[in-house]
Amino acid sequence: MPGSPANSISATTRICAVYGHPVKHSASPALQNAGIVALELNWRYLAFDVHPDDLAEAIRGAQAMKYIGLNLTVPHKLLAYELVDELDESARTWGAVNTIRFEGQDDAGEWVSLGELPVDYEGDIRTKGFNTDADAIVRSLCEDLGAELKGATVVLLGAGGAGRVAALRLAAEGVKSIRLVNRTESKAVAVQNEIRETYPDVNATAGYPDDQKADILLNATSLGLKDGDASPLDESRFSVNGAPKVYDMIYRPAETPFLARAREAGAQTANGLGMLLYQGTAALEIWTGRIAPVEVMRAALRKEVYGN
Ligand code: ATR
Repeated sequence: MPGSPANSISATTRICAVYGHPVKHSASPALQNAGIVALELNWRYLAFDVHPDDLAEAIRGAQAMKYIGLNLTVPHKLLAYELVDELDESARTWGAVNTIRFEGQDDAGEWVSLGELPVDYEGDIRTKGFNTDADAIVRSLCEDLGAELKGATVVLLGAGGAGRVAALRLAAEGVKSIRLVNRTESKAVAVQNEIRETYPDVNATAGYPDDQKADILLNATSLGLKDGDASPLDESRFSVNGAPKVYDMIYRPAETPFLARAREAGAQTANGLGMLLYQGTAALEIWTGRIAPVEVMRAALRKEVYGN
Protein backbone atom coordinates (compact mmCIF):
# COMPACT_ATOMS: atom_id res chain seq x y z
CA MET A 1 0.00 0.00 0.00
CA PRO A 2 1.50 3.35 -0.97
CA GLY A 3 1.27 6.18 1.55
CA SER A 4 1.39 5.95 5.33
CA PRO A 5 1.49 2.79 7.39
CA ALA A 6 -1.92 1.19 7.70
CA ASN A 7 -2.17 2.03 11.40
CA SER A 8 -1.78 5.81 11.14
CA ILE A 9 -4.19 8.36 9.71
CA SER A 10 -2.75 10.41 6.86
CA ALA A 11 -3.86 12.53 3.91
CA THR A 12 -4.41 9.34 1.93
CA THR A 13 -6.53 7.51 4.49
CA ARG A 14 -9.81 6.39 2.92
CA ILE A 15 -13.18 6.18 4.65
CA CYS A 16 -16.01 3.68 4.87
CA ALA A 17 -18.97 4.24 7.17
CA VAL A 18 -22.28 3.01 8.45
CA TYR A 19 -25.28 5.34 8.43
CA GLY A 20 -28.12 4.62 10.82
CA HIS A 21 -30.64 6.39 13.04
CA PRO A 22 -29.88 5.58 15.80
CA VAL A 23 -26.41 4.18 15.22
CA LYS A 24 -24.55 4.49 18.51
CA HIS A 25 -24.93 0.78 19.37
CA SER A 26 -23.63 -0.43 16.00
CA ALA A 27 -20.94 -3.11 16.18
CA SER A 28 -19.96 -2.52 12.56
CA PRO A 29 -17.03 -0.15 13.26
CA ALA A 30 -15.34 -2.78 15.48
CA LEU A 31 -16.10 -5.51 12.95
CA GLN A 32 -14.94 -3.64 9.86
CA ASN A 33 -11.89 -1.92 11.32
CA ALA A 34 -10.58 -5.32 12.44
CA GLY A 35 -10.88 -6.53 8.87
CA ILE A 36 -9.34 -3.35 7.48
CA VAL A 37 -6.32 -3.65 9.79
CA ALA A 38 -5.85 -7.34 8.95
CA LEU A 39 -5.88 -6.52 5.24
CA GLU A 40 -3.33 -3.73 5.91
CA LEU A 41 -5.48 -1.09 4.25
CA ASN A 42 -5.02 2.60 4.97
CA TRP A 43 -8.78 2.91 5.55
CA ARG A 44 -11.02 3.70 8.51
CA TYR A 45 -14.64 2.74 9.12
CA LEU A 46 -16.82 5.19 11.07
CA ALA A 47 -20.45 5.38 12.21
CA PHE A 48 -22.70 8.39 11.55
CA ASP A 49 -26.15 9.09 12.92
CA VAL A 50 -27.98 10.25 9.79
CA HIS A 51 -31.64 11.24 9.88
CA PRO A 52 -33.66 9.71 7.02
CA ASP A 53 -34.43 13.23 5.73
CA ASP A 54 -30.67 13.74 5.27
CA LEU A 55 -29.80 10.36 3.79
CA ALA A 56 -29.60 11.48 0.15
CA GLU A 57 -27.36 14.40 1.07
CA ALA A 58 -25.15 12.23 3.29
CA ILE A 59 -24.66 9.71 0.48
CA ARG A 60 -23.87 12.51 -2.00
CA GLY A 61 -21.37 13.99 0.47
CA ALA A 62 -19.59 10.66 0.88
CA GLN A 63 -19.45 10.35 -2.90
CA ALA A 64 -17.96 13.84 -3.23
CA MET A 65 -15.35 12.96 -0.59
CA LYS A 66 -14.50 9.71 -2.39
CA TYR A 67 -15.47 7.39 0.41
CA ILE A 68 -14.95 3.74 -0.45
CA GLY A 69 -18.30 2.46 0.71
CA LEU A 70 -21.22 2.64 3.10
CA ASN A 71 -23.38 0.31 5.11
CA LEU A 72 -26.97 1.27 5.78
CA THR A 73 -28.80 0.11 8.84
CA VAL A 74 -32.21 0.84 10.37
CA PRO A 75 -34.14 2.76 9.00
CA HIS A 76 -32.29 3.39 5.71
CA LYS A 77 -32.29 0.12 3.78
CA LEU A 78 -35.42 0.74 1.70
CA LEU A 79 -34.75 4.43 1.11
CA ALA A 80 -31.19 3.70 -0.05
CA TYR A 81 -32.68 1.35 -2.64
CA GLU A 82 -34.26 4.40 -4.30
CA LEU A 83 -31.17 6.58 -4.02
CA VAL A 84 -28.33 4.59 -5.62
CA ASP A 85 -27.33 4.94 -9.28
CA GLU A 86 -27.05 1.19 -9.88
CA LEU A 87 -28.50 -1.87 -8.20
CA ASP A 88 -26.65 -5.15 -7.90
CA GLU A 89 -28.80 -8.21 -8.48
CA SER A 90 -28.71 -8.95 -4.74
CA ALA A 91 -30.35 -5.61 -3.97
CA ARG A 92 -32.91 -5.97 -6.74
CA THR A 93 -33.83 -9.50 -5.64
CA TRP A 94 -34.31 -8.70 -1.94
CA GLY A 95 -35.61 -5.15 -2.40
CA ALA A 96 -33.26 -3.46 0.08
CA VAL A 97 -29.76 -1.98 0.12
CA ASN A 98 -27.47 -2.44 3.13
CA THR A 99 -24.18 -1.85 1.29
CA ILE A 100 -23.12 0.86 -1.14
CA ARG A 101 -19.94 0.73 -3.17
CA PHE A 102 -18.62 3.96 -4.67
CA GLU A 103 -17.29 3.14 -8.12
CA GLY A 104 -15.02 4.82 -10.65
CA GLN A 105 -13.82 3.73 -14.07
CA ASP A 106 -10.51 1.98 -14.62
CA ASP A 107 -8.30 2.41 -17.70
CA ALA A 108 -10.48 -0.03 -19.63
CA GLY A 109 -13.61 1.95 -18.75
CA GLU A 110 -14.90 -0.72 -16.36
CA TRP A 111 -16.67 0.41 -13.20
CA VAL A 112 -14.65 -0.78 -10.20
CA SER A 113 -14.54 -0.02 -6.48
CA LEU A 114 -12.88 3.30 -5.63
CA GLY A 115 -10.79 1.18 -3.28
CA GLU A 116 -9.08 -0.29 -6.32
CA LEU A 117 -8.36 3.12 -7.91
CA PRO A 118 -5.70 5.71 -6.97
CA VAL A 119 -6.58 8.13 -4.16
CA ASP A 120 -6.34 11.01 -6.62
CA TYR A 121 -8.79 9.45 -9.10
CA GLU A 122 -10.64 12.27 -10.87
CA GLY A 123 -13.20 10.60 -13.13
CA ASP A 124 -16.93 10.07 -12.66
CA ILE A 125 -18.12 8.31 -9.53
CA ARG A 126 -21.34 6.32 -9.21
CA THR A 127 -23.08 4.52 -6.35
CA LYS A 128 -23.96 0.84 -6.56
CA GLY A 129 -26.28 -0.78 -4.03
CA PHE A 130 -25.96 -4.35 -2.77
CA ASN A 131 -27.75 -6.52 -0.24
CA THR A 132 -25.50 -8.73 1.87
CA ASP A 133 -28.11 -9.43 4.60
CA ALA A 134 -30.03 -12.15 2.78
CA ASP A 135 -27.06 -14.39 1.99
CA ALA A 136 -25.75 -13.86 5.52
CA ILE A 137 -28.85 -15.56 6.94
CA VAL A 138 -28.27 -18.64 4.83
CA ARG A 139 -24.55 -18.72 5.56
CA SER A 140 -25.13 -18.44 9.30
CA LEU A 141 -27.82 -21.14 9.32
CA CYS A 142 -25.50 -23.48 7.42
CA GLU A 143 -22.23 -22.70 9.21
CA ASP A 144 -23.38 -21.89 12.74
CA LEU A 145 -26.28 -24.33 12.96
CA GLY A 146 -25.16 -26.99 10.47
CA ALA A 147 -28.54 -26.69 8.78
CA GLU A 148 -29.28 -28.46 5.50
CA LEU A 149 -31.70 -26.04 3.84
CA LYS A 150 -32.62 -27.83 0.65
CA GLY A 151 -35.79 -29.79 1.33
CA ALA A 152 -36.04 -28.53 4.93
CA THR A 153 -39.26 -27.67 6.74
CA VAL A 154 -39.11 -24.28 8.47
CA VAL A 155 -41.22 -22.43 11.01
CA LEU A 156 -40.41 -18.73 10.79
CA LEU A 157 -41.55 -16.39 13.56
CA GLY A 158 -41.85 -12.81 12.32
CA ALA A 159 -42.86 -11.27 9.00
CA GLY A 160 -41.37 -7.79 9.41
CA GLY A 161 -38.42 -6.57 7.34
CA ALA A 162 -35.96 -9.22 8.53
CA GLY A 163 -38.53 -12.03 8.52
CA ARG A 164 -39.67 -11.28 4.99
CA VAL A 165 -36.14 -11.33 3.57
CA ALA A 166 -35.31 -14.52 5.50
CA ALA A 167 -38.45 -16.22 4.19
CA LEU A 168 -37.78 -15.28 0.58
CA ARG A 169 -34.10 -16.18 0.79
CA LEU A 170 -34.90 -19.59 2.32
CA ALA A 171 -37.45 -20.18 -0.41
CA ALA A 172 -34.79 -19.35 -2.99
CA GLU A 173 -32.53 -21.90 -1.30
CA GLY A 174 -35.10 -24.64 -1.97
CA VAL A 175 -36.62 -25.36 1.42
CA LYS A 176 -39.61 -27.69 1.16
CA SER A 177 -42.01 -25.70 3.30
CA ILE A 178 -42.22 -22.51 5.33
CA ARG A 179 -44.81 -21.82 7.99
CA LEU A 180 -45.01 -18.08 8.62
CA VAL A 181 -46.15 -16.91 12.04
CA ASN A 182 -46.66 -13.24 12.82
CA ARG A 183 -48.60 -11.19 15.37
CA THR A 184 -50.12 -9.24 12.49
CA GLU A 185 -51.32 -12.14 10.40
CA SER A 186 -51.90 -10.10 7.24
CA LYS A 187 -48.13 -9.58 6.96
CA ALA A 188 -47.48 -13.33 7.17
CA VAL A 189 -50.12 -13.86 4.47
CA ALA A 190 -48.48 -11.21 2.27
CA VAL A 191 -45.11 -12.98 2.54
CA GLN A 192 -46.84 -16.33 1.94
CA ASN A 193 -48.34 -14.94 -1.27
CA GLU A 194 -45.02 -13.45 -2.39
CA ILE A 195 -43.33 -16.84 -1.97
CA ARG A 196 -46.15 -18.70 -3.73
CA GLU A 197 -45.80 -16.37 -6.70
CA THR A 198 -41.99 -16.35 -6.97
CA TYR A 199 -41.13 -19.83 -5.67
CA PRO A 200 -44.13 -22.03 -6.54
CA ASP A 201 -42.32 -25.24 -5.54
CA VAL A 202 -42.13 -24.09 -1.92
CA ASN A 203 -45.10 -24.85 0.29
CA ALA A 204 -45.66 -21.50 2.06
CA THR A 205 -48.50 -21.07 4.53
CA ALA A 206 -49.30 -18.57 7.24
CA GLY A 207 -49.67 -20.12 10.70
CA TYR A 208 -48.13 -22.91 12.76
CA PRO A 209 -47.85 -26.39 11.21
CA ASP A 210 -50.56 -28.85 12.25
CA ASP A 211 -48.05 -31.65 12.89
CA GLN A 212 -46.05 -29.52 15.38
CA LYS A 213 -42.79 -30.43 13.63
CA ALA A 214 -40.10 -28.61 11.69
CA ASP A 215 -36.43 -29.10 10.85
CA ILE A 216 -35.65 -25.48 11.68
CA LEU A 217 -37.39 -22.98 13.97
CA LEU A 218 -36.28 -19.40 13.36
CA ASN A 219 -37.09 -16.25 15.31
CA ALA A 220 -37.07 -13.07 13.23
CA THR A 221 -39.23 -11.00 15.57
CA SER A 222 -37.80 -8.44 17.94
CA LEU A 223 -39.20 -10.31 20.97
CA GLY A 224 -36.33 -11.17 23.31
CA LEU A 225 -34.36 -7.98 22.75
CA LYS A 226 -35.73 -6.47 25.95
CA ASP A 227 -35.83 -7.94 29.45
CA GLY A 228 -39.30 -9.28 30.19
CA ASP A 229 -40.37 -9.65 26.53
CA ALA A 230 -42.88 -12.41 25.88
CA SER A 231 -41.65 -15.47 24.00
CA PRO A 232 -42.02 -15.20 20.21
CA LEU A 233 -43.24 -18.83 20.27
CA ASP A 234 -46.79 -19.77 21.27
CA GLU A 235 -46.04 -23.11 22.92
CA SER A 236 -49.72 -24.04 22.92
CA ARG A 237 -49.44 -24.12 19.11
CA PHE A 238 -45.91 -25.42 18.63
CA SER A 239 -43.77 -27.18 21.21
CA VAL A 240 -40.15 -26.14 21.51
CA ASN A 241 -39.42 -29.89 21.29
CA GLY A 242 -40.75 -29.84 17.74
CA ALA A 243 -37.56 -28.58 16.08
CA PRO A 244 -34.03 -30.00 16.36
CA LYS A 245 -32.41 -26.76 15.17
CA VAL A 246 -33.41 -23.37 16.54
CA TYR A 247 -32.04 -19.99 15.48
CA ASP A 248 -32.67 -16.56 16.95
CA MET A 249 -31.69 -13.53 14.87
CA ILE A 250 -31.24 -11.60 18.11
CA TYR A 251 -27.59 -11.62 19.28
CA ARG A 252 -27.85 -9.24 22.23
CA PRO A 253 -28.53 -10.86 24.70
CA ALA A 254 -26.39 -13.77 23.48
CA GLU A 255 -29.07 -16.20 24.61
CA THR A 256 -32.68 -15.04 24.65
CA PRO A 257 -35.12 -16.92 26.93
CA PHE A 258 -36.55 -18.47 23.74
CA LEU A 259 -33.13 -19.80 22.72
CA ALA A 260 -32.39 -21.01 26.26
CA ARG A 261 -35.68 -22.95 26.30
CA ALA A 262 -34.78 -24.56 22.99
CA ARG A 263 -31.28 -25.50 24.18
CA GLU A 264 -32.66 -26.95 27.42
CA ALA A 265 -35.14 -28.97 25.34
CA GLY A 266 -32.16 -30.49 23.51
CA ALA A 267 -32.16 -28.43 20.32
CA GLN A 268 -29.02 -27.26 18.61
CA THR A 269 -29.11 -23.45 18.81
CA ALA A 270 -27.39 -20.39 17.36
CA ASN A 271 -27.93 -16.67 17.65
CA GLY A 272 -27.77 -13.89 15.06
CA LEU A 273 -24.15 -12.88 15.57
CA GLY A 274 -23.18 -14.94 12.54
CA MET A 275 -25.65 -13.01 10.38
CA LEU A 276 -24.12 -9.74 11.48
CA LEU A 277 -20.64 -11.10 10.83
CA TYR A 278 -21.34 -12.46 7.36
CA GLN A 279 -23.19 -9.39 6.09
CA GLY A 280 -20.10 -7.44 7.14
CA THR A 281 -17.49 -9.77 5.65
CA ALA A 282 -19.44 -9.74 2.38
CA ALA A 283 -19.52 -5.91 2.39
CA LEU A 284 -15.76 -5.73 2.97
CA GLU A 285 -15.23 -8.11 0.06
CA ILE A 286 -17.43 -5.92 -2.16
CA TRP A 287 -15.33 -2.86 -1.33
CA THR A 288 -11.89 -4.49 -1.45
CA GLY A 289 -12.27 -7.24 -4.05
CA ARG A 290 -10.38 -9.41 -1.56
CA ILE A 291 -11.28 -12.29 0.73
CA ALA A 292 -12.32 -10.96 4.15
CA PRO A 293 -10.45 -12.26 7.21
CA VAL A 294 -13.52 -13.89 8.72
CA GLU A 295 -12.00 -15.23 11.93
CA VAL A 296 -10.29 -11.93 12.80
CA MET A 297 -13.59 -10.14 12.23
CA ARG A 298 -15.54 -12.73 14.24
CA ALA A 299 -13.20 -12.29 17.20
CA ALA A 300 -13.48 -8.48 17.03
CA LEU A 301 -17.26 -8.70 16.86
CA ARG A 302 -17.47 -11.06 19.83
CA LYS A 303 -15.24 -8.76 21.84
CA GLU A 304 -17.32 -5.72 20.93
CA VAL A 305 -20.68 -7.35 21.64
CA TYR A 306 -19.89 -9.71 24.53
CA GLY A 307 -16.59 -8.32 25.84
CA ASN A 308 -14.70 -11.57 25.38
P1 ATR B 1 -37.14 -5.92 11.52
O1 ATR B 1 -36.62 -5.06 10.43
O2 ATR B 1 -36.17 -6.17 12.63
O3 ATR B 1 -37.78 -7.17 11.01
P2 ATR B 1 -39.83 -4.95 11.90
O4 ATR B 1 -40.04 -4.90 10.43
O5 ATR B 1 -40.34 -3.83 12.74
O6 ATR B 1 -38.28 -5.04 12.24
O7 ATR B 1 -40.43 -6.34 12.43
C1 ATR B 1 -40.50 -6.66 13.78
C2 ATR B 1 -41.11 -8.06 13.92
O8 ATR B 1 -41.28 -8.38 15.31
C3 ATR B 1 -42.49 -8.18 13.32
O9 ATR B 1 -42.69 -9.52 12.92
C4 ATR B 1 -43.40 -7.83 14.51
O10 ATR B 1 -44.70 -8.28 14.41
P3 ATR B 1 -45.83 -7.32 13.72
O11 ATR B 1 -45.60 -7.45 12.23
O12 ATR B 1 -47.13 -7.87 14.16
O13 ATR B 1 -45.58 -5.93 14.22
C5 ATR B 1 -42.67 -8.55 15.60
N1 ATR B 1 -42.98 -8.00 16.91
C6 ATR B 1 -42.52 -6.86 17.45
N2 ATR B 1 -43.04 -6.66 18.68
C7 ATR B 1 -43.86 -7.70 18.91
C8 ATR B 1 -44.70 -8.08 20.00
N3 ATR B 1 -44.80 -7.35 21.11
N4 ATR B 1 -45.40 -9.24 19.90
C9 ATR B 1 -45.33 -9.99 18.79
N5 ATR B 1 -44.56 -9.70 17.71
C10 ATR B 1 -43.84 -8.56 17.77
